Amino acid sequence: MSNKLRIVMANDHGATELTRELKDYLESKGHEVVWLGTQTNDSVDYPDQAEKACREFLKGSYDFGILCCGTGIGISISANKIHGIRCALPQNCYAAQMAKEHNNANFLAFGGRIDYPESPTSMVQTFIDTAVSPEPRHRNREAKMMALEKA
Ligand code: RB5
Repeated sequence: MSNKLRIVMANDHGATELTRELKDYLESKGHEVVWLGTQTNDSVDYPDQAEKACREFLKGSYDFGILCCGTGIGISISANKIHGIRCALPQNCYAAQMAKEHNNANFLAFGGRIDYPESPTSMVQTFIDTAVSPEPRHRNREAKMMALEKA
């Protein structure tokens, strides 16, 4: 990925602090962040937040997106219902690396109420630092994943 990235983010009330932390981190690294999620702790619905960020991403000017809710589960499931989205829910830096290398994920999801063994900021940085593998078997699997949207 090029030096300065454009990242879209959204979240529900279960991860406002985590989303702010990730935004501050990315901006400190010189990236541009568009934050569409809630910035308060008032209750909002994670499918709406996922949809907002995914529709914005699909307009085309973003490198990837980040979605956060209490666990990361509801918002990642929601995102993966939208055609063109491959949202990974990494548990650690290894999974974040694989999410790029093998799966070519275009969204990462995290949980604001999850106690991670490695910080979400380090997982995001690992994802940024990793390239998509050119290995045909991985790209064929990605094509098969996307073909499931049409099945
Ligand atoms: C909201 O309370 C919570 O359900 C949501 O943030 C998320 O954890 C759902 O998967």
